[in-house]
Amino acid sequence: MASTIPAAQAASQPSFVKLEPSSSVWDRITTWASEHKAAVYTIAGVTLVATGAGIYYYTSESAPTPQDLEAAAEKKRARKENKKAKKNAQREQKSPSPETKSQDKPQAASVQSEDDVPDVTESTVASLSDETKKDYAAKLKAAGNKAYGSKDYNRAIELYGQALLCKADPVFYSNRAACWNAMSNWERVIEDTTAAVNLDPEYVKALNRRAHAYEQTNKYSEALLDYTASCIIDAFRNTQAAEAVERLLKKVAEQKAKAIMEKKQRRLPSATFITNYLQSFRDRQLSDTISEGADLAENSGKWWLRKGLLAMDKKMGEGYNEAAEAFEKAIEAGDLGENEALAYNMRGTFKYLRGEADAIDDLNKSIELDATLTQSYVKRASMHLEAGRRDEAAKDFEDAIAQNDKDPDVFYHRAQLNFILGDFPEAAKDYQKSIDLDPGFIFSHIQLGVTQYKMGSVASSMATFRRCMKNFEKVPDVYNYYGELLLDQQKFQEAIEKFETAVQMEQKERVTGMNVLPLINKALALFQWKQDFSAAQELCEKALIIDPECDIAVATMAQLLLQQGKVPEALEYFEKAAELSRTEAEIVNALSYAEATRTQLEVQEKYPQLASKLQGMPASAAMR
Ligand SMILES: *[C@@H]1O[C@H](CO)[C@@H](O)[C@H](O)[C@H]1NC(C)=O
Repeated sequence: MASTIPAAQAASQPSFVKLEPSSSVWDRITTWASEHKAAVYTIAGVTLVATGAGIYYYTSESAPTPQDLEAAAEKKRARKENKKAKKNAQREQKSPSPETKSQDKPQAASVQSEDDVPDVTESTVASLSDETKKDYAAKLKAAGNKAYGSKDYNRAIELYGQALLCKADPVFYSNRAACWNAMSNWERVIEDTTAAVNLDPEYVKALNRRAHAYEQTNKYSEALLDYTASCIIDAFRNTQAAEAVERLLKKVAEQKAKAIMEKKQRRLPSATFITNYLQSFRDRQLSDTISEGADLAENSGKWWLRKGLLAMDKKMGEGYNEAAEAFEKAIEAGDLGENEALAYNMRGTFKYLRGEADAIDDLNKSIELDATLTQSYVKRASMHLEAGRRDEAAKDFEDAIAQNDKDPDVFYHRAQLNFILGDFPEAAKDYQKSIDLDPGFIFSHIQLGVTQYKMGSVASSMATFRRCMKNFEKVPDVYNYYGELLLDQQKFQEAIEKFETAVQMEQKERVTGMNVLPLINKALALFQWKQDFSAAQELCEKALIIDPECDIAVATMAQLLLQQGKVPEALEYFEKAAELSRTEAEIVNALSYAEATRTQLEVQEKYPQLASKLQGMPASAAMR
């Protein structure tokens, strides 16, 4: 299934899709610091579709949907910037801009010739009167600016140094830093800007300059801290600094994610995630050779394979771990006969779920053994997609269709691909084709409804869902996803009713393994509608008791805490979300939230005078 949990987000933002982490981080920070609306934020970066398509969603840069969204976010941002630009024009002129530009050039060079420039040394300065020192400082600075303007940096450095002897002015330090900057002497830039910031902690230009130098010397965390502070001081008016925050968040997160991936123990994602992925394939009959357990020799390959398939049907974390192990054993034991391709398929599937890179080898082997097992092509396609190899994914679908053009699974999954790529008309066609081949598979219907909604055909989408409720009255997922669409239309009451129905049905219908998505959706709806944090939090906690590994629940919790200004608690949950992530891209995503949160905490500690600017904002907004 390709729909995501609708984010507790601005109504203008599309639901059912994952936003680029960077843009949502931006939106969130911006919102947090400059607007006081608790409801305007997005959780989307960390929600995911816990399903087959959910896996595709983490296809990093290659999938255009997130890119489109980023472009949209960019536009929105640009609009915002434009509006602010006018307001800030005056301020901008006064306040130093990040890079060397105009303000550093001699503005009103009162010094016409070198003759007018005083010459000051440490020993002569002591004998000067305060009045003279002030006068000299101004003249030396002007001369320094002039030298800087004509790119005579060594002379400018000397002049600013003399000016500093007369007066410890943060501007002189910052200007001298600009010279070091032009000469790529980063250590000196850091020294001088630090001196400037010590004299004037809210000196935005010096902070930006130091951040730039930190970035040049690969001190990403330090750079991030400075840029974040500068953004907050400047109320997010400076696009360059804001972009730098995003860039560095990504760099820091990527660096840390690499370290985590190296140490990470491979393990399966949450049961919710696995169930949703596996149920996107139709159940298959066990082949005759393994259908009767009693006939199989214990610990034989076929015995393990049968055991794995049965364990998988429990739809619970424990069962999935058991299944993963059994499929490994089945391959080790061998002698699988006609089931060998299936065994490789299943082992590869669980390796994939654990995020192991060699999973694709098993699928290759499976296809080699039995090209008619079209499911292997489909699964390999999802691996290609996740790694950004779109063309190879498309090729796998073609090959699968060449093998069997009556396989509804293949069309369903190709539809998912098109859905993710944003080609909704193609997606709708394939969903329909899949339905024509097998109308009994509920998820094609649900997805078709979601796709119609995305295409703007709200009426036909609603009609599709009403038909689903009639024809599949006992399937909780129908109510869950219908609820999402209602939530997106801000029909809160109705949406919540649907989620509640889904929860009740989950409890009643599923013997094992409850899907927690409706619980989380209800939490988001209550939050969006009534800002009811405690009810929302309670629901997330409930979801986490049922499925402790559920990263969506963890991430939702983090966002709820953040909205209440409980920053340290939010940070804990963001870090937990990173731990629970499956792939490096997911970890980067979760970590960029964690890092953004951590940096804001650090800014508050390091710049107590700014803390008052930040603190209480989300909380007080929530109280209103
Ligand atoms: C598996 O098959 C894909 C084609 O889908 C190919 O690109 C890849 O190199 C193969 N991997 C191995 C290890 O043979």
